[in-house]
Amino acid sequence: MATTNNDVQKINGNFKGKDIISLDQFSTKDIDIVLNVTAEMKDIAANAKPSQLLQGNIVTLIFYEPSSRTFGSFAAAVKQLGGQTIEIQDPQHFSSVAKGETLEDTMRVFEAYSDAIVIRHPQTGTAAKAAAATQFVPILNAGDGIGEHPTQALLDLATINEKHHRLDNLTGVMAGDLLNGRTIHSLIRGLSLYKGTTLYLLSPKELKLTKEDLDNFSKRGVKLIEIESENDMPENADFWYWTRVQKERFANLEDYEKVKNRFIVTPELMKKKAGKNTILMHPLPRIGEILPEVDSDPRAVYLRSEVRNGMYVRMALLALILGKK
Ligand code: CP
Repeated sequence: MATTNNDVQKINGNFKGKDIISLDQFSTKDIDIVLNVTAEMKDIAANAKPSQLLQGNIVTLIFYEPSSRTFGSFAAAVKQLGGQTIEIQDPQHFSSVAKGETLEDTMRVFEAYSDAIVIRHPQTGTAAKAAAATQFVPILNAGDGIGEHPTQALLDLATINEKHHRLDNLTGVMAGDLLNGRTIHSLIRGLSLYKGTTLYLLSPKELKLTKEDLDNFSKRGVKLIEIESENDMPENADFWYWTRVQKERFANLEDYEKVKNRFIVTPELMKKKAGKNTILMHPLPRIGEILPEVDSDPRAVYLRSEVRNGMYVRMALLALILGKK
């Protein structure tokens, strides 16, 4: 399924009250605003004295799919800013969703109790559906099926910018499950806003972007080069963005077994193809596609700045959409 978003509300420099559903809502100026507020949030998080920016605010986190980072960092972000959370993981078992309550009714209930709702769901388009069902509070898409994961893309952009001090004229490698990887779909949208972007797309042929997505993204000006072997990776790219093959999106396990871990980052691959300024990113979890021996390489940022930026960026987004910045 293609991941086009036709009806997204543009940010246009004003985040207050807006849903965050897709990177298609953002301009480079909007991303600049997020990055600037993120820098402030990093200082707040480092400060021993807790911030009261979100004092009196309650944020609902409702995750219909498992999560460590997105759930944990949103929860931490609210708490870092003095707010409170309603936390529901697995609502299919631990809420009235188990009794058959619809998504629309569930959203309208939690909009009555909180000031924003963060939702993860296995079906593409559900965050937009949740936004359509609510009137009074913003909805943040924490991952909708194979669709998008916009807050992850913003933290990935923050991580690239932190290293390279720019988001234009970048060359990157995006590897793994490009078909099902929602973080990939959002990050390509984000990077395609900047001039001079070249992305090498390394995947098994079964897991390439759909033709519709490839055409749609290419029209934006980003140069996309599909490759099927590590030998075709450029040397000295600015970043590598590795991803896991998304087992949960496969109808049968045999197909998954055939393509899982086709591309593995090893110290040898780093030596052969990465430059001294290449950063190795991964949205995580990783399931074997980056060997643990690579973790001590200072260019491997996935368990360092990338994961920490998740909390800072989500603090910034919450402060912006709740009108505190
Ligand atoms: N990157 C990411 O979405 O991780 P989680 O699934 O643990 O939230």
